[in-house]
Amino acid sequence: MPSEKRDMFLCMGSACHQAGVYDVLPKLQKLLAENGLDDTIELKGAFCLGPCTKGIVLTFEDHVFTRLSPANVEHQFRTKILPVLK
Ligand code: FES
Repeated sequence: MPSEKRDMFLCMGSACHQAGVYDVLPKLQKLLAENGLDDTIELKGAFCLGPCTKGIVLTFEDHVFTRLSPANVEHQFRTKILPVLK
């Protein structure tokens, strides 16, 4: 049986939408795949996660990542997000 995937939530609320989450989503999916994590981590859209003024917001278990943008998502992924996924 395949092991359970771990959920990662990307905020699709209105503030994060305005900030460009629809451009961040495919980039995150690509980064997860490139790092061989798409088998173990499920990226899901979420309603407002709370800290709208710090959007775009991503959560993974007890970690909260803020201020993602289409321009910085790759850098944030490599420096902050990837280390907690491994
Ligand atoms: S809309 Fe994304 S945290 Fe509220």
